Amino acid sequence: MSFRTQPAPVARPNRCQLFGPGSRPAIFEKMAGSAADVINLDLEDSVAPSDKDSARKNVIDAIGTIDWGNKTLSVRINGLDTPFWYRDVVDLLENASERLDLIMIPKVGCAADLYAVDALVTAIEAAKGRQKKLGFEVIIESAAGIAHVEEIAAASPRLQAMSLGAADFAASMGMATTGIGGTQENYYMLREGAKYWSDPWHWAQAAIVAACRTHGVLPVDGPFGDFSDDDGFRAQALRSATLGMVGKWAIHPKQVTLANEVFTPTQEAVTEAREILAAMEEAKARGEGATTYKGKLIDIASIKQAEVIVRQAEMIAG
Ligand code: COA
Ligand code: MG
Repeated sequence: MSFRTQPAPVARPNRCQLFGPGSRPAIFEKMAGSAADVINLDLEDSVAPSDKDSARKNVIDAIGTIDWGNKTLSVRINGLDTPFWYRDVVDLLENASERLDLIMIPKVGCAADLYAVDALVTAIEAAKGRQKKLGFEVIIESAAGIAHVEEIAAASPRLQAMSLGAADFAASMGMATTGIGGTQENYYMLREGAKYWSDPWHWAQAAIVAACRTHGVLPVDGPFGDFSDDDGFRAQALRSATLGMVGKWAIHPKQVTLANEVFTPTQEAVTEAREILAAMEEAKARGEGATTYKGKLIDIASIKQAEVIVRQAEMIAG
C-alpha cells in the first residue's frame, strides 16, 4: 500500500453528459431543460469547418443568456491538431460569461497538450480578471492518448473528468469496426461451436479508470452511437459503471434517462451498502475485523466498497 492516499475527484454528479452541435442553437434550450448533469456544447466534430465561426458565436451567446440551472456547463473545443482550437479558447475566455464551468479538450495525446491549453487559459484569465477558474475535461480517443493516459490524468490541476471516445479511438487504433461503442460482431470467443461476445473497449476503460482514480479525476464513458438501441446502451453503461466509471455521454436526448438510471445507485444497492456498514460497526464493537452478511464474508474492505455506493447516492441526492 502506498503511503499516498487516493485523492477524491470533484464532488458533483456526472451521470450523463448531453452533447449538441454548437451549430444547432435551436436545441440549446432543450438541452438546458434536460435531466443531464453536464451539458457539452460542441465546437468540434459535429460542426462542419464552414460553421466553426458561427458555432463559436452561438455558444458564447448561449452561455450567457440561457438558464442552465445547476448543470455543469462545458464546451468541447477543437483539437490541438486543427487551426481552430486557439480561437475557441481565446474567444470563450475573452467573451463568454463566467457561467462556463469547463472546456473539453478532444484527442489529447500527452500531458503537454494540457500544459499548452492551461498556459493559454491562465494568461487570458489573468488578463481579463476572470474570477472563476475554468476546469478541464479531456477525451482519450487515440493510441497516444491511451498510451499516455496516466501522465494525462496528472497533467493539470484544472482537470476534472476524462472520457473514452470510442469512434476516434477505434480509428486511431486501426480497429476493424465502424461501430461507436457497444458489442462488436467479430469480437467473440468460440466454445463448442457457440459464440460468446467479449468487450473490446474493456481494457481501455479499465486503463482510464485506473489513471483517473490515481489522480482524482472522474472517469466517464463516451458516446454510444446507435440511439435506437436502448438495451445496447444500457448494457454498455452497466459494464462501465461496474468498472468504476461515473457516467456516460448522451448523443440524443432519449439516452439521458438511461444513463441517469444506470449511474444512480438503486435504492436496494444503497440499503444493502448501509446494512453492510451497520454489520461492520457491530463486528467492530465485538472486536472482529470480519463477519458475515447474507451468508457472505464481509470485512474492512467491504466498508470501503459500501462507502463508494453511499457517498455516490448522497452526492446525487445533495
Ligand atoms: N439535445 C437536445 N435535444 C435534442 C438533441 C440534443 N442533442 N438532438 C435532438 N434533439 C431534439 C430534437 O430537436 C427533437 O425535438 P422536438 O421533439 O422538440 O422536435 C427531439 O429531440 C427528437 O429529435 P430527433 O428527430 O430524434 O433527432 P434529430 O434528427 O433532430 O437529431 C442527431 C439527431 C443525432 C443529429 C442529434 O441528436 C445530434 O446532433 N446529437 C448530438 C451530436 C453531437 O453533439 N455529437 C458530438 C458528440 S459525439
Ligand atoms: Mg472524437
